[in-house]
Amino acid sequence: PSGAGKGTLARRLALELGFHLLDSGAIYRVLALAALDQHVALDDSDALCQLADSLELTFPFDANHTQICLGETDISARLRTQMVADAASQVAVHAGVRSALMALQRRQATAPGLVGDGRDLGTVVFPEAELKIFLDASVAVRAERRYQELIQSGQTVERSAILRDLEIRDVRDRTRPVA
Ligand code: C5P
Repeated sequence: PSGAGKGTLARRLALELGFHLLDSGAIYRVLALAALDQHVALDDSDALCQLADSLELTFPFDANHTQICLGETDISARLRTQMVADAASQVAVHAGVRSALMALQRRQATAPGLVGDGRDLGTVVFPEAELKIFLDASVAVRAERRYQELIQSGQTVERSAILRDLEIRDVRDRTRPVA
């Protein structure tokens, strides 16, 4: 689930092994941000799929770089907001959206190897992966980690709001019919 430490662990492993890095959550976040900016409804699966196909996304599939661009614009900071996290979890429920983003994710599995981070990477995207790690933590610990991350990135947030948002997102992510 969100905030369990997947991103940190994946980045450190990729650096240690000299492998590529796939932060799949960021891909869902980019689509969500583009939908918010272009006023595409988060429940309009067809429009979201079209948007996913048209995204001019520059992604650092590399643990040494973190800058994510959409067209010419650096959107890395905007991707980490609670609003985008929540929208990402709404776009991620659509099976069509998930398959539209599948090829992009699978293309990253190149030599010398890939560390992929995301809740469906071992089950759906890379079922043949050599090593699968399931990482979990209590909602209180995950909320505290998210809170510290957001505070350090200069955002003004309340602990209770973070906890509530995580709980809502957990339910949505765990009860959707796909992935
Ligand atoms: O991991 P992160 O918090 O960046 O993910 C944002 C949202 O994107 C999650 O709440 C989840 O709904 C969705 N997601 C997903 N499958 C992935 C990665 C992220 O559904 N592999």
